Amino acid sequence: SHRPTICYRPIQPSDLEVLERLHADIFPIRYEEEFFQSVVHARDIVSWAAVDRSRPNGHSDELIGFVTARIVLAKETEIGDLLIYDPLKPDQTLVYIMTLGVVETYRNLGIARSLIRQVIKYASSFPTCHAVYLHVISYNIPAIHLYKKMSFKCIRRLQGFYLINGQHYDSFLFVYYVNGG
Ligand code: ACO
Repeated sequence: SHRPTICYRPIQPSDLEVLERLHADIFPIRYEEEFFQSVVHARDIVSWAAVDRSRPNGHSDELIGFVTARIVLAKETEIGDLLIYDPLKPDQTLVYIMTLGVVETYRNLGIARSLIRQVIKYASSFPTCHAVYLHVISYNIPAIHLYKKMSFKCIRRLQGFYLINGQHYDSFLFVYYVNGG
């Protein structure tokens, strides 16, 4: 096999089909068509794609990894209470990572780490933004290792947060503080 040349770029409308296929392949949860439309049109969602420029036959711009995130108002989230509430700054925000995935053959190359770095850099660039956070299902060891290794803090275990095929699973809530928390 060849040596990959990984590049990062925003997700665009032409990524729609591959983005949907990767989500269906990678996650046990089904996402609505509206979610994918919002991602590719960057409607209230920021995202980054990883591509392998060394892939032949027109695949050099095809998604092999992605991260999607949303800016939310801190006071409207379940972790708003963790930030020091400043009545002079009611517009405090957070960045919520919705989905993160890497195609199996490209795992363990540091691609997820780079995608998360992009999100942290983006979040840090907003003075109003105080943290990046996400939920992960409690049995997802690779993802939990990744977030711990990147210094995310696990602050909560949410009982029965996910409902998959009629079964409940717990989730962990991970936070990475930026701009002083
Ligand atoms: N076992 C243990 N630790 C792992 C594993 C693994 N299989 N994979 C990654 N890690 C940890 C390691 O600590 C690694 O650091 P190291 O190589 O220095 O030891 C660190 O994560 C970074 O690894 P990357 O190579 O950047 O991770 P990768 O590109 O392989 O992607 C991911 C990791 C996204 C979890 C991938 O396995 C995947 O797509 N899994 C299926 C989808 C998924 O679980 N997504 C996250 C769900 S949570 C959410 O979406 C908000």
